[in-house]
Amino acid sequence: MTTAAASIQTRITSLFGCRYPIILPGMSWISDPTLVAAVSNAGGVGILASGPLNAKETREAIRKIRSTTDQPFGIGCTLLMPGAKENAQVSLEEQVPIINISLGKGDWIAEQAHDYGGKILATVTNAKHAQSALESGADALMLTGHEAAAHGGDVTSLVLVPSIAKRFPQVPLVAAGGFADGRGLAAAICLGADAVAMGSRFAITKESSLAQRMKEIVSNDELYGGSTESDTVYGKNFDGIPARVLKSEESLRLIAKPAPLPIVIYRAFNAARKMNIPLYKVIPGLLTQWDKMYMVAQFGAATDSLMRATIDGDFEKGVQFIGQSQGLISDIPSVNELTQRIMEEAIESSTLGYETLASKR
Ligand SMILES: Cc1cc2nc3c(=O)[nH]c(=O)nc-3n(C[C@H](O)[C@H](O)[C@H](O)COP(=O)(O)O)c2cc1C
Repeated sequence: MTTAAASIQTRITSLFGCRYPIILPGMSWISDPTLVAAVSNAGGVGILASGPLNAKETREAIRKIRSTTDQPFGIGCTLLMPGAKENAQVSLEEQVPIINISLGKGDWIAEQAHDYGGKILATVTNAKHAQSALESGADALMLTGHEAAAHGGDVTSLVLVPSIAKRFPQVPLVAAGGFADGRGLAAAICLGADAVAMGSRFAITKESSLAQRMKEIVSNDELYGGSTESDTVYGKNFDGIPARVLKSEESLRLIAKPAPLPIVIYRAFNAARKMNIPLYKVIPGLLTQWDKMYMVAQFGAATDSLMRATIDGDFEKGVQFIGQSQGLISDIPSVNELTQRIMEEAIESSTLGYETLASKR
């Protein structure tokens, strides 16, 4: 572990046993064992994205992380997605220290995780879901604000974090959405959070497996029409759930008009093929949920578009999840350099007086 910056102790650093209150959230094809271990070794907590993995691959990924770090790490299980419950079961068998659940009821996961001392971090976007996650046994909440890449809620982090902190003062909180530097971390703590999760920021690091072309586009405001804080679009025509993606001709086209059902189904099958999911597993999912068929197919189709951008770097035909915090990203550092810089900035921001801070803009 290579760490030097002083730390900020919070309820999250105590609960998870990490050095810094900085989390790598789950990002499909990006939060892989290499990036997870890099973040945990740098003093934060890496969370493995299990969405694209089957049960066997999930077990291998967990073991790979354990072979490269002895620091705390987690796994993300989006319970609505096919295969997520099986991946959660594998995580329990492997006694993963932190299980990050979202979009589903995780009481059975909490019960078994608590038996071996595991912790449950539930991702929510509003007070109603926060309440039900706590009733299901969550130990901490990750709050995803409107600024976030992918599925942030309606409310911005600036309001969401203090309002949930006020309602649930006993619960450790991780703020996600819009955080990419040390000032953001210091601000999140002022708002009532105990840590931040940074998706867009960690996606643009040396160890991240995001396509190099996408890293360059996001970190350079001059390329392809811009990647400032204003160059994202938010809507539900990408995967059926309101999501934020990088502005491009393709994302603007989709936001204006969703693709027709036959194209959506074709893309969903294409995604299943790329992910080695047999069609006999996909077809019943579509047919048995007739009323939700368009949404389910859209979710699958989005996988195809997301893979094109994230893996192949296809800015023209793909769709890239990215948050408004891309406006704060202008380099591609190593995870350790970035973590040290964030901690130094956060500590400096919280100790400087207002006038000095204003003069440093
Ligand atoms: C490139 C990228 C891919 C992501 N993939 C997923 C995903 O597969 N599933 C998910 O629930 N969230 C995904 N997210 C969202 C993150 O988990 C997190 O909520 C978000 O990045 C936080 O906001 P920020 O980008 O402003 O830091 C992704 C984010 C990024 C930047």
